[in-house]
Amino acid sequence: MEIQPFVAKQYAFLEKQGLAPKEIEKSIHERFASKEKGAGVACLVTPPKPVTIQADTLADCHPGLKELSRLGHGAFGEVVAVGLDPNATDADRRRVILGGGLYSPLDPGRTYALKQLLLDDWVAADGTVSFSAAVSDWGIQSEMCVAREAGKGAVGPEVFGTWFCSVASGANFGGRDFGFILMDRVRTTFGDAIDEARSHDLVVTADAQRAVMGIHERFYQLGYFHDDAHLYNHAIDLQGRIRLLDFGFVRPWLIGWKERAVRLVARELSDEIEWTPYYRLGRHGKDNVAEEVIELIDRGSIPFRKVYKWGTMAPFTEKSVYSFPPNPDADEAFSDSGNHREKVEDTDGDIQPANLLQA
Ligand SMILES: Nc1ncnc2c1ncn2[C@@H]1O[C@H](COP(=O)(O)OP(=O)(O)OP(=O)(O)O)[C@@H](O)[C@H]1O
Ligand SMILES: [Mg+2]
Repeated sequence: MEIQPFVAKQYAFLEKQGLAPKEIEKSIHERFASKEKGAGVACLVTPPKPVTIQADTLADCHPGLKELSRLGHGAFGEVVAVGLDPNATDADRRRVILGGGLYSPLDPGRTYALKQLLLDDWVAADGTVSFSAAVSDWGIQSEMCVAREAGKGAVGPEVFGTWFCSVASGANFGGRDFGFILMDRVRTTFGDAIDEARSHDLVVTADAQRAVMGIHERFYQLGYFHDDAHLYNHAIDLQGRIRLLDFGFVRPWLIGWKERAVRLVARELSDEIEWTPYYRLGRHGKDNVAEEVIELIDRGSIPFRKVYKWGTMAPFTEKSVYSFPPNPDADEAFSDSGNHREKVEDTDGDIQPANLLQA
């Protein structure tokens, strides 16, 4: 699949929100010109420019690392799994293992995720607006910068390298520039995990929901608001912890928005988990903490009543909340495998009532 320049994603995103082409052009240029300074968050104002290397082909843009498979199917940033290239030169191999090249030291026995972003100028389909490559350039640098901070702050996968690469003309993608983000691999996305809960009758536990909402509280502590917080941009890492992906749409926290990200993600969570057998038709409402959080946010602060307390869900992001347990009251008739399933004990208290809600 042909990957599209970074700015095309920003365009599509704003178009989906109902903006007209000229409004989109204005909005993107304002971001690019850093007018939206917010709290002066450096990554969104003056992101540092990473090194640029020259390569003969796209595959040479990540020396010592070999592409193994495709992890993501985004139209804008292709994400692939990479590992130590068995045919790497000794010098490249050394730089992969010890660092000192493009990456910080990597474990030669592990695989990593590599996101590739295309830096190009771009003309919208209707031809009325166009953007220079500098707009994509700035946007990619900003994403790289936020991804690094998110990795350090335990909000996103750890980042091991960010760089640009110019592919020599003549080759496939010749004459074009790419940005690369090398990071830890996650296990799955939360969107996929909900799909799995639906098809295998698993419980999206209260703690898993708290972690998905709590990761936004954590991101706020770093100064950011994730503006593209759909459930496929929430991931579950190898330790079963919730992490954010995809920092292409990030804004500084704006006044009055503090609870907006939490409410938006809570809405989406509740809408999705209600289609899993455990929660369907309003069952197990007490475990649907996403819905409870929405109610509490909407209710606001009423004296002597339960309120949503900011920051109380962030600690759940340190907890392993995956795999999801099987539905303890699974209907035998539902089971698509047809196997008998034993009732499971509620072992780790994952679906106990919230302690995030303060009386
Ligand atoms: N660190 C990672 N480990 C494993 N898979 C990943 C990782 N990062 C991304 N992916 C996969 O790649 C997909 C796309 O990644 P990402 O959202 O960063 O790119 P994008 O092109 O900006 O996305 P979109 O599809 O939203 O436009 C993710 O939804 C996920 O499935
Ligand atoms: Mg994405």
